[in-house]
Amino acid sequence: MRHLRVPSRETSLWRDRLASNGWLSKGHGIHNLGDYRGIPLNESAPAEFEGLEIVEIEALSSGPQHWTQRLDSVLFEKFRDLWPMSHDQIGDVLIAKIPEEIEQYGELIGNAMLEQHSSARIVCADNGVKGEFRVRDLTPLATKTNNSTKTKVREHGNEFLIDPSLVYYSPRLATERLDNLEVAKKLSEKLGRKISVCDPYAGAGPALIPLSKMVEHVGTIYASDLNPNAAEFLSMNLPGHFTKCADARKLSPELDECCDLLLVNLPHESIEHLPDLIGLLKRGHEVVIRGWAILPHDSISKAEKQIREHLNSTEILSLEVIPKKSYASNISYVVIEVHLVRS
Ligand SMILES: C[S@@+](CC[C@H](N)C(=O)[O-])C[C@H]1O[C@@H](n2cnc3c(N)ncnc32)[C@H](O)[C@@H]1O
Repeated sequence: MRHLRVPSRETSLWRDRLASNGWLSKGHGIHNLGDYRGIPLNESAPAEFEGLEIVEIEALSSGPQHWTQRLDSVLFEKFRDLWPMSHDQIGDVLIAKIPEEIEQYGELIGNAMLEQHSSARIVCADNGVKGEFRVRDLTPLATKTNNSTKTKVREHGNEFLIDPSLVYYSPRLATERLDNLEVAKKLSEKLGRKISVCDPYAGAGPALIPLSKMVEHVGTIYASDLNPNAAEFLSMNLPGHFTKCADARKLSPELDECCDLLLVNLPHESIEHLPDLIGLLKRGHEVVIRGWAILPHDSISKAEKQIREHLNSTEILSLEVIPKKSYASNISYVVIEVHLVRS
């Protein structure tokens, strides 16, 4: 069978790309070819992939398609509709919501998931997001080594450390973070110099890490979070940059006029915090605020009005509040982008 030979660190990227084009052979496993992997191609896949080799090797039977197929069939049928069918994977930590009725099978579930997902080291039950720092309450169910939930995450080619039980992190927002890069590049081109960026709600720094790699366009980076654990991860993930544990609303006296691009990611309070954050922005030229908020569908124009009021000491060049994804029925996760000048 034809297999696409890809560098091992690009396996999931190519697997997803082939699957989304309908070129992945389902029911067959991925070959380990040392530093490369062989991904099985179906009949519809093209004859050539630029820069990559196609190799003829015997197909691997991939075993169960889902971890639930590893459960005893009588047990599976008994709780048919309750087994978690989806999960999040953060580095090598796999997280699933376990309904109360099947909590007693936690270890069994954990072991079946570990067997199914070879890149997972530990499986945890997700008991929800808790407290002002919005960290996940996790219960280890099964592990290959120890119960630590500290892990290394790869996002769009960047690696960083995180412990989802200590610091907020959502892999589901990775695509949203990519848009910051385009905004930073355009602003830097417009100002004709490297820009400085401040993220006062930085978590472990997933938004800043890719920006820190844009050395042509991004200069100084200021990263801060009120959660002391987050601040510790920031110093590990952004060595050589300013990192701090602080309340964002109290940062501007110390970091007066520090940045050209300000990220405001506290979705339930982003808008209310704006008046205390203005001091962080540089004066005399265009600067940008990118924020995220969770808003009922019918309150978007009210939010725009509030933002204008909070920023009335500045000249607003443009203001957009764009719904990005659904958060709950009638509630959207929106991105706010304001271009303004402080005089
Ligand atoms: C939604 S998370 C965003 C984290 C990170 N920017 C990301 O994209 O993963 C919000 C963060 O704000 C932090 N936080 C909450 N209140 C804060 C405050 N008053 N000042 C600074 N950080 C705060 C939380 O600890 C959390 O890490």
